[in-house]
Amino acid sequence: MTREQILRDYLNYYQDLGVKTVYRRKPTVKTEAAAKLLQEPVAEKPEVGSAIVAPVIKETVQIKVTPAAVSTSVILPSLAPENETLAQISSDIGDCKRCRLCEGRNKIVFGSGNESAGLVFVGEGPGADEDAQGLPFIGRAGQMLTQMIENTAEKEGIPIKRPDVYICNVVKCRPPENRAPQPDEMEICGQFLFRQLMVLKPKAICAMGATAAKAILATKEGVTRLRGNWHKWHDIPVMVTYHPSYLLRPYNQNAKREAWEDLKRVLHFVYD
Ligand code: URA
Repeated sequence: MTREQILRDYLNYYQDLGVKTVYRRKPTVKTEAAAKLLQEPVAEKPEVGSAIVAPVIKETVQIKVTPAAVSTSVILPSLAPENETLAQISSDIGDCKRCRLCEGRNKIVFGSGNESAGLVFVGEGPGADEDAQGLPFIGRAGQMLTQMIENTAEKEGIPIKRPDVYICNVVKCRPPENRAPQPDEMEICGQFLFRQLMVLKPKAICAMGATAAKAILATKEGVTRLRGNWHKWHDIPVMVTYHPSYLLRPYNQNAKREAWEDLKRVLHFVYD
């Protein structure tokens, strides 16, 4: 395979995952394929245009690849094999320094729960408690989520508890002051979420809040408009609902009722 084909495979794969931009950064860890790619001789007649861009400038993946542009400073994200595992993704994340969120984090919050779960909940990003312990949704919003899952399941006669589902976030490091993740942070970290979801292949995904909805459905539509209806991510049904933190605010009683309705639908869909 020529290095152009290898590079094209990477780009197609990430485009399928919804990743629209790739970045060039300093080499740290060379993947086997990337190392091979770098060793191959440059094609005689390179095409015009490039997917590989300078660190601060980004371009879309729908481009022509210039073999000549593949310099020794290009490190590609590892191409997920068919039988990839969550452990492999976590090890790929490693001691991640891919974006500025690494600067203030204590622990990377990968995700937790049943890896064979039929249902995956996706939140925004770790808060202070999660950052301290390395586990998702263990603070106040987490207690709210646990209550929502377990109370609704019990009321509906569905025998599941929180450990039966899988829970993760769009970004794996805590954004400073709990601000919303920025688009480049979502995009960089989003590749890991996409790989997690591909490995988990749940029966349904519940996207909690605007950040999760935006990352999974690539939409600018707000939660209020998206919630209550089924959407799709790679053929997997997606229900959007309010983020548990939003439901903790006392004046959001109506949203709370709607979130319970959304959850009821998801639980029946997955477990009936
Ligand atoms: N909020 C999130 O979005 N995720 C967490 O893990 C905790 C709070």
